Amino acid sequence: MVLNPLHVQILPSILAADFARLGEEIAAVEEAGAAMIHVDVMDGHFVPNISIGPPVVKSIRKATRLRLDVHLMITDPDRYIPAFIESGADQISVHQEACHHLDRTLRLIQTEGARAGAVLNPATPVSTLEDVLGVADFVLLMSVNPGYGGQEFLPHTLEKVRRLRAVSADLPIEIDGGITSRNVAAAVRAGCNWIVAGSSIFQSSGAAAAFREMQQIASEALAIQV
Ligand code: DX5
Ligand code: ZN
Repeated sequence: MVLNPLHVQILPSILAADFARLGEEIAAVEEAGAAMIHVDVMDGHFVPNISIGPPVVKSIRKATRLRLDVHLMITDPDRYIPAFIESGADQISVHQEACHHLDRTLRLIQTEGARAGAVLNPATPVSTLEDVLGVADFVLLMSVNPGYGGQEFLPHTLEKVRRLRAVSADLPIEIDGGITSRNVAAAVRAGCNWIVAGSSIFQSSGAAAAFREMQQIASEALAIQV
């Protein structure tokens, strides 16, 4: 499987950013070449943590032209999807585990005007998405249990990426959690093209430099795969 290098992208996750300086933090990675920003929404029910909601997405939308990739870690996502899209989300991903009617929820996101992604927790098999692969615009595989930044990468996720890539050559596959400059190449070689990185970018000594380094490693990993 050879992916177009242009399509391998590091997505900085603002969960690890300094929220008091959010505009500056985003501007730094935008200038460094990021194409998308990953926005983690947590409700304290589906995951044991609370983060941000539509008003923050609306403010970010005014501050950047980058695509906003909104990861909903919430119960009953259908209730909030229109508000997030109205606030400026370009794509929204929902957890298979949080949706009673995943097919309907993915179609709702698309009808409201955004790209729709299906997310799996580390414990949920790839096979559970078999019947929505024709509907989803992308799949996000969690490589940590969702809820917090800065957790250890779960290596079995790479096998899930390979399994998914084997049944879907063109689908964008996103990976999220515990990605560092040490494991990013393995994620790309397994078949990921959208790679979320929070702590390793925003908790580093310089977000722009950390982004550039990870983006370079990711692109080179693909080059030697050919
Ligand atoms: C975890 C979130 C991730 C998080 C990743 O629940 O979905 O997007 O921000 O953070 P790092 O890269 O620090 O693991
Ligand atoms: Zn996330």
